[in-house]
Amino acid sequence: MKILVIGSGGREHAIVEAIARSPKAEKIYAAPGNAGIAALAECVAIKDTDVEALVAFAKREGIGLTVVGPEASLAVGVVDRFREEGFKIFGPTQAATEIESSKDFAKRLMKKYYVPTADYATFTDYEEAMAYVRKGTLPAVLKYDGLAAGKGVVIAETMEEAEAALKDMLLDTKYGEGRVVIEEFLTGEEFSLMCFVAGNKICPMPVAQDHKRAYDNDEGPNTGGMGAYTELPFVTAEDHAYAMEHIMQRVADALVEEGRPFTGVLYGGLMKTLTGIKVIEFNARFGDPETEVVLPRLKSDAVDLFMAVAEGQQPAAEWSEGATLGIVLASKGYPGSYDKGFAIRGTERVESKIYHMGTAMKNGELVTAGGRVMIVVAEAATLREAQTKAREDIAKIECDNLFHRTDIGAKAFR
Ligand code: AMP
Ligand code: GLY
Repeated sequence: MKILVIGSGGREHAIVEAIARSPKAEKIYAAPGNAGIAALAECVAIKDTDVEALVAFAKREGIGLTVVGPEASLAVGVVDRFREEGFKIFGPTQAATEIESSKDFAKRLMKKYYVPTADYATFTDYEEAMAYVRKGTLPAVLKYDGLAAGKGVVIAETMEEAEAALKDMLLDTKYGEGRVVIEEFLTGEEFSLMCFVAGNKICPMPVAQDHKRAYDNDEGPNTGGMGAYTELPFVTAEDHAYAMEHIMQRVADALVEEGRPFTGVLYGGLMKTLTGIKVIEFNARFGDPETEVVLPRLKSDAVDLFMAVAEGQQPAAEWSEGATLGIVLASKGYPGSYDKGFAIRGTERVESKIYHMGTAMKNGELVTAGGRVMIVVAEAATLREAQTKAREDIAKIECDNLFHRTDIGAKAFR
């Protein structure tokens, strides 16, 4: 079977690698792919949001299965269009993707179906939003819900910060009408529970933990993720069972009930608080960098698994024992501005897996080409060993313009 993977990051590199392990994958294409993916798949220069060009490519090549990585592709309806044309595709429809793309939709759904999450209110008016913040306690969690990517989530520690963020989100009308979800601030350990979902049939992946801040001890600005690991000692079997029943299964059922059945990966960004496990956010796709530490543990045939989901059948997956830990190498300056084009050497001495995030080939040499450049993922019997191995391998990579966190996995040892 010919398989197309949409996307160009470390997540898609891990997806392509899992597919490449299947004897059913006769040929793999990636649109647009990256320099690392190019070793396993043919990269085709189509933008991940250019739905018509992707459909045309699938027709021309007779693609049997397409797997979607990025949310941007889902949000523009790539799954709806592929299905219209009779293609098998792994990912949710535009309507189901709203669980990620609209914070307000996600919160309303959770409230209606009694899914545990932070209390909230939604505003379009700046004065009303500010009045609500003044009445409540700090920090205030402000989540932008609208078309301007990047305004994201602001955790305002002071009234001044809340004012500035709400002005930016609600008074700057350059993007059309903005909406803000204001949430109760929760505290606890965060973790990611991703499930394969085909309507109301669901199957969990190993729990992982992301590290969103740029520097050690969770300091510095938010990033796309600086590292991740599996297994998490603080997520007990009871926690897992609770989250599966009261959060993941309930939301899968709710989306069926609402006429927006989900197919693909439902990502629960969860927090273990003193009053139980609660939802911080949902994503409608594989997480990044969680996927890079989860998929190496997949023992089942990835093509069978993705196909089952695409066809609405019960997904089933087996996972290897042990642990994985991945450390991201990022360009100095990231997530702010950074330079590109620095030579990366020594990767051939690395025993761990390397997934490329932002690299390029220049005159036959591997160079940096993005903010997050690559992730080094070690597998071992224990998390300690995986951490040691990943650190040893990171030290073998030579490049003048990279940095990484040295404390990935530390929360598991507290
Ligand atoms: P998000 O973009 O929704 O993933 O939010 C980014 C980060 O903000 C999350 O990973 C949390 O660390 C934090 N966050 C979001 N919502 C809350 C909340 N209600 N309480 C505490 N922290 C939150
Ligand atoms: N790791 C968080 C995300 O994929 O959005």
